[in-house]
Amino acid sequence: RQDFETILLERKGRVGWITLNRPKALNALNSQVLDDVIAALDELEVDAEIGAVVITGSERAFAAGADIKEMQPKSYMDMFLDDYFARWDRLAQFRKPTIAAVAGYALGGGCELAMICDLLIAADTAKFGQPEIKLGVIPGIGGSQRLTRAIGKAKAMDLVLTGRNMDVEEAERAGLVSRIVPADQLLDTALEVAETIASMSLPVAMIAKESVNRAFETTLAEGLRFERRVFHSLFAIEDQKEGMAAFVDKRPAKFTNR
Ligand code: CAA
Repeated sequence: RQDFETILLERKGRVGWITLNRPKALNALNSQVLDDVIAALDELEVDAEIGAVVITGSERAFAAGADIKEMQPKSYMDMFLDDYFARWDRLAQFRKPTIAAVAGYALGGGCELAMICDLLIAADTAKFGQPEIKLGVIPGIGGSQRLTRAIGKAKAMDLVLTGRNMDVEEAERAGLVSRIVPADQLLDTALEVAETIASMSLPVAMIAKESVNRAFETTLAEGLRFERRVFHSLFAIEDQKEGMAAFVDKRPAKFTNR
């Protein structure tokens, strides 16, 4: 389908592929981008053929932030009554695995969008930052929270208070980035990783994602209890029987998502 204004949505086998496509604004995230991303996610969530989703931007920018020109005229009441940015929670609620494939600028809302995704694969050209303080605001799509959990207080404070950018090596060292690849291999690598994930049992991948995300929301003891219960429950599904039988038979597993 190509009938979105600000994104492209493709299906590459079992991989859903969303390309942010507002090149004149370096993919700044306005309300139309949000509407389009939500509509695409809604489609991909119910599409039984789709096992993983990649979100990417352009070579120059994954996304240079929320749209400053859209926000500039707004009042406190506009922001409050709209619950501005709250709808980005849709991405965090998306249950299938997501990969951000980042080249160029991932600033402000762009960095936040990438951090909501499950894996972050970055080109060697990627630059990350939360420069909101330079605009007289703070991160608003989770940056002060997800960045701090991802890279710790020392670096999160450095980025959020100075507004400086981090290059990709620093971002990987800090734990923000899953893998760094040469820019010309970014999309192929992201597709390969997404295909690998999509070749697993989808319900198991969804449950694995949910379990890792629990680590950010609860205590270690509760998280371990959650993991143990869910681990036991997997012995009720067909893909566990198939996966273990295939190992014993020395053949590749054929998962049926059951
Ligand atoms: N919002 C709206 N428009 C943006 C934008 C943004 N976040 N980022 C870039 N653009 C627009 C520019 O205004 C420019 O448009 P015009 O040609 O109409 O002037 C076009 O994209 C190209 O940008 P530049 O000419 O600035 O390109 P550059 O290569 O010189 O600089 C840049 C690139 C350093 C990324 C610079 O564009 C920049 O600093 N952008 C803003 C970054 C930023 O502050 N992001 C945080 C936004 S606030 C936020 O995200 C809140 C939150 O927590 C969710």
